[in-house]
Amino acid sequence: MRGKTTKVEECYIVELDKHHSDRKGNITVVENGITVPFSTERVYYLYDIPGGESRGAHAHKELYQLVVAASGSFDVVLDDGTNKKRFTLNRPYQGLLVVPGMWRDLENFSSGSVCLVLASMVYSEADYIRDYDEFVKFKKL
Ligand code: TYD
Repeated sequence: MRGKTTKVEECYIVELDKHHSDRKGNITVVENGITVPFSTERVYYLYDIPGGESRGAHAHKELYQLVVAASGSFDVVLDDGTNKKRFTLNRPYQGLLVVPGMWRDLENFSSGSVCLVLASMVYSEADYIRDYDEFVKFKKL
């Protein structure tokens, strides 16, 4: 299973393609095979999150994701069972690549923020690990 052996160092912020038009704002594009190392099968977004609230607290066994602060800001703390790394997302033209096998906490949402997620697989509860001790065992087996 892909997520068993992954390390937090494999997760990084991708600078996305940004097209600027002087008075008309910006467009950012994410393309399968060009911007991200997976094919997007699902898109979802978190919104109406009360300021300062947290989400996440789970890991995925196989799922790749690109996490974008489409509006506002929040922190993503990734943990591979040994090492942790905190990423602050606050630009709509940056995406955090989250490889499988990362426990993630999404924290410090600014009010009105929107967390856009591109995911490599359709929703499957079987891909989730929602218990931290179980996650640590999964990474050590
Ligand atoms: P979850 O992934 O646990 O949320 P978060 O990590 O943002 O706190 O999902 C919350 C609920 O939404 C859970 O009951 C499952 C459901 N859900 C879907 O039905 N499909 C999806 O694609 C996602 C991401 C969640």
